[in-house]
Amino acid sequence: MYYVGIDLGTSAVKLLLMEGTGKITNIVSKEYPLYFPNPGWSEQKPEDWWSAVKEGLKELTKDYDKSQVAGISFGGQMHGLVILDADDNVIRPAILWNDGRTQDETDYLNQEIGKENLSKYTANIAFTGFTAPKILWVKNKEPENFAKISKIMLPKDYIAYKLTGSFCTDVSDASGMLLFDVEHKCWSQEMMDICGIAANQLAKIYESYEVVGTLKPEIAAELGFSAQVKVAAGAGDNAAAAVGTGTVGDGMCNISLGTSGTIFISSKNFGVDQNNALHSFAHADGKYHLMGCMLSAASCNKWWMEDILHTNNFAEDQAAITDDKLGNNHVYFLPYLMGERSPHNDANARGTFIGMTMDNTRADLYQAVLEGVAFAIRDSFEVAKSLGIHIEASKICGGGAKSPLWRKIFANVLNIRLDLIESEEGPGYGGAILAAVACGEYASVENAAAKLIKVVDSVEPDKELAARYEERYRKFAQIYPTVKQLFPKIS
Ligand code: XUL
Repeated sequence: MYYVGIDLGTSAVKLLLMEGTGKITNIVSKEYPLYFPNPGWSEQKPEDWWSAVKEGLKELTKDYDKSQVAGISFGGQMHGLVILDADDNVIRPAILWNDGRTQDETDYLNQEIGKENLSKYTANIAFTGFTAPKILWVKNKEPENFAKISKIMLPKDYIAYKLTGSFCTDVSDASGMLLFDVEHKCWSQEMMDICGIAANQLAKIYESYEVVGTLKPEIAAELGFSAQVKVAAGAGDNAAAAVGTGTVGDGMCNISLGTSGTIFISSKNFGVDQNNALHSFAHADGKYHLMGCMLSAASCNKWWMEDILHTNNFAEDQAAITDDKLGNNHVYFLPYLMGERSPHNDANARGTFIGMTMDNTRADLYQAVLEGVAFAIRDSFEVAKSLGIHIEASKICGGGAKSPLWRKIFANVLNIRLDLIESEEGPGYGGAILAAVACGEYASVENAAAKLIKVVDSVEPDKELAARYEERYRKFAQIYPTVKQLFPKIS
């Protein structure tokens, strides 16, 4: 049997075909546009996702026996607001996870409703990228669109709806809406009242590994699949990546370096960090997790290389960052190109180079970009440490994890061992595993992860280098508090 994992990302959808044994037999990627209609805004068209998914599914399976496809599931970019009218038309482009337009609504929620109440209702506070502030933004700024809303969805749930007709979501992705009572895994009536929405506008909630429906006959016919193909709820991309890297059960850690950068800590118990600096979400394995999310991670690398230097020869520029330079750079970079989420919660924060002198080279600035992302993940790592969480090692996945140099920088900035999995396709592989569990191929998510996930490489921190990075991080940590009051004035 085959299982398909769909990783609905921000730059592209990646589709992965997995055999029941866990072997990946094919991977296909389809890009779609990302729109920045105003500074700090970030939108995509759900219709583009749907066409890319359909094309991708056809291409993925064209050389395989389609009758053997048994299940499909997802890892999806989180928090995006997709709204449909009563005829199932998309009302406006989706407002994405890295969109910063909702500062007023976020301030209203955190200050007027109050962080303590929000945390009581949902286990989280408001961040500009979360879904509830976006609903309030549509209510305030586009009342004609708000009046038309019949269904409120997350990105991957739109795809599940198009595939099956089931209006569904899963616990991990629902957790990032600020409408979900994470501890009790149900919608929060208080949050619905605050946002002016009703329960019938929200989807039915499933565990990530539960079946939400089978393919609509006309979709099955178009794809050449059996109409018996089961679709499982799937998970937010970080929870799916955690499944795909074996970060399940208690006290495991995964770092994902995609467009965003996240540090994800699995936990068998529900828990909330006192300052809500880390998100407290449900996990795709049926339990819970804590997570810090930075908004621009591998996207800083892409921006610096492609948009600024106009090259995509990443290896050549990374080769110029020789070992003797590591831990000795006096240029720093704040990676806040889309504002920042964890732990600063500041949509006005901006990317910043600081510390350059006449002798600095292109390599020094590139090194500062790579180090700045690692230091920013360390900010969330520090919050986890302050909660008494002891992390000795972490998995690492996502496009950024392909770079041995960047892995080395991360291992030494965090001073922990980093394990690389056979496939760095975390969310897609996690999605396929969730489909396999839903179809009964494995007894549970933990059981599947234990059987399928193999570490193929590890990077150990070096004592001296980690000590140099410790000193650098202490300096980095002083830069944002010093310059932050400038950002609202210059942005
Ligand atoms: C997590 C988050 C991002 C997106 C990226 O809270 O906003 O990691 O899920 O796709």
